[in-house]
Amino acid sequence: MRALVKHHAGPELQFVSDRPVPRPGPRDVLIKVTKAGICGTDKHIWEWDEWAAGRIPIGIVTGHEFVGIIEAIGSAVTRCQVGQRVSAEGHITAGVDYNSRTGNAHIASDTRILGIDRDGVFADYVCVPEENVWPVHPSIPDKVAAVLDPLGNAVHTVMAAGVSAKSVLITGTGIIGLMAVTVAKAAGAGRIFATDMNPHRRGLAKKLGAAEAFDPRDGAWIGEIRRACRGEGVDVLLEMSGSPAAYDQGFSCLRNGGVAALLGIPAKPPTFNITQHVVFKGATVLGINGRKMFETWYQMEELLVGGRLQLDDIITHEFPIEQFKKAHETMLSGEGIKVVMSVNG
Ligand SMILES: NC(=O)c1ccc[n+]([C@@H]2O[C@H](COP(=O)([O-])OP(=O)(O)OC[C@H]3O[C@@H](n4cnc5c(N)ncnc54)[C@H](O)[C@@H]3O)[C@@H](O)[C@H]2O)c1
Ligand SMILES: [Zn+2]
Repeated sequence: MRALVKHHAGPELQFVSDRPVPRPGPRDVLIKVTKAGICGTDKHIWEWDEWAAGRIPIGIVTGHEFVGIIEAIGSAVTRCQVGQRVSAEGHITAGVDYNSRTGNAHIASDTRILGIDRDGVFADYVCVPEENVWPVHPSIPDKVAAVLDPLGNAVHTVMAAGVSAKSVLITGTGIIGLMAVTVAKAAGAGRIFATDMNPHRRGLAKKLGAAEAFDPRDGAWIGEIRRACRGEGVDVLLEMSGSPAAYDQGFSCLRNGGVAALLGIPAKPPTFNITQHVVFKGATVLGINGRKMFETWYQMEELLVGGRLQLDDIITHEFPIEQFKKAHETMLSGEGIKVVMSVNG
């Protein structure tokens, strides 16, 4: 089969056509990939930065965001059928550790991730355990179904923080931050404020429902947000940039007793004034990892089927997998926001 493989310890990926089709075990499902989304994580793998070099095994098929059609099922599979249109949760666990058994499998200690720890979805076929398969509602188009993974990050963050009738600041309106704007709007947030250096993304944030979007390099905006919120600051901070500066700025905008949900991943540990921003503020800080299995997936489906989310301006480009270089470059340059590759259709 065709596949995009991290073939050497360096930048880029290799497109091969002779990769063996994976063989499903008794409880696995073999899926023919229709479309696959390029994630920020794939950017690290493409560029081969420090994180990728320390984590990604050479020879792996990359990619983890996708939609496809079930091609074959293992002998012990009971809930999936050949021909079904599906996506899948890319965090795979044995389901036996404490968190898996108490409703928090998204933070299981034995998590292995598609396209990072085991062969992923930038290929004609991918194999996943039956438990991870998510049947896609017929009203959800393929290009949206291909990005349920990052949309789930946004839904998980917004739902964990609780935004209904609250003022919200989203620092970083990249792929997930923009998704969070439309999700927060759908979840009944009051005013949504956003920050990003990129003027196009700030414009999109406003189009999707943000009351105001600021350039974080202009220092006056922190006072402006605080004044707009009783002089105290926003109720909720959603950190979605991973920028050390954004932690300081975001917490400076958060009112005492506010809730901060942190999704962004800094390149290295940031310096952070925990006394000022958390202890004396009495802030509640939530670490957000992945998506809740499968509460987030049900919430996401309901929001999509109910027509509550606007994703058309966020999924900006689609390329056939053969044009994988152009697809990755479009994403890396910032010209594209969410870039999707068509693999089989
Ligand atoms: N916790 C998780 O499970 C999880 C999952 C996926 C991604 N992530 C992380 O979440 C973050 C967002 O992911 P993404 O795919 O949307 O990335 P992205 O690169 O598309 O978006 C990041 C955005 O932050 C903006 N930005 C940079 N510095 C900023 C600052 N100081 N203030 C405001 N905005 C700033 C950038 O211009 C960009 O638009 C990344 O750090 C990513 O690694 C975490
Ligand atoms: Zn992803």
